[in-house]
Amino acid sequence: MTEKPADRRSAPTVVVAQSPDEFAGAVAVQVKRQLHARSSSVLALPTGQTPIGVYAELSRRCREEEISFVDVRTFNLDEFVGLPADHPASFETYMMAHLFSHIDIDLAKVHIPNGNAANLEQECRAYEREIAAVGGIDLAIVGIGANGHIAFNEPGTPFDSRTRVIELTTSSKAAHAAEFGGIDQVPELAITMGIGTILQSRRIVLLALGADKAEIVARAIEGPVTTDVPASVLQTHPNVLVMLDRAAAANLHIAQ
Ligand code: GLP
Repeated sequence: MTEKPADRRSAPTVVVAQSPDEFAGAVAVQVKRQLHARSSSVLALPTGQTPIGVYAELSRRCREEEISFVDVRTFNLDEFVGLPADHPASFETYMMAHLFSHIDIDLAKVHIPNGNAANLEQECRAYEREIAAVGGIDLAIVGIGANGHIAFNEPGTPFDSRTRVIELTTSSKAAHAAEFGGIDQVPELAITMGIGTILQSRRIVLLALGADKAEIVARAIEGPVTTDVPASVLQTHPNVLVMLDRAAAANLHIAQ
């Protein structure tokens, strides 16, 4: 594993793992350190392909009693609007399958935006209130979309945005087409935590894997801070760790 602070003032630290196991282990260690510092930590959690190995590793460490989630509170970053919670492609189904059913977390302390709320605006405001009520997010783990989105904050999203309903872009719908059996079946809307909400987290870990992410990772980490690349805003946060594999790091200057 190579670890280099990026070559700019206050730029994120970048960790490049040499294998999927090393990546999952290194992210799990970040979570473990957080839970050791505060057993009742508040975590923001992503979905997607990228964290699957990380969740498997956290599940293993929990099973082997190396870490416990008993007191942990979690807030998922996003959820589709209008899917039953048990829909195979809902983020709730994903989280149960990959993490929550394998760890000792109290499901009463798990929060996922309710995309079926009768009043979605109220649901978004309530989500913000719940995050504030537990003292804010200690550690946000976020992925990055091919278009630079974090959670479902698509290009053009203001950096001070809060939890809200958004319309999915074609790029994001295409990324989920397979799970829904075609792009036409992907919901038009989702609830996402805002960029402003994520930025208030005390610590942020950005994850990316694979060559498909190399270009957008370089733009996000080494390019200008711009709403065209939502993840680029992370350059302005004082405590960000970027965890990549070699393929995702390939376009970074610091990797050369
Ligand atoms: C999804 C989610 C994001 C996720 C991103 C990358 O649509 N809304 O939270 O980080 O896209 O997903 P993947 O890890 O599958 O590339």
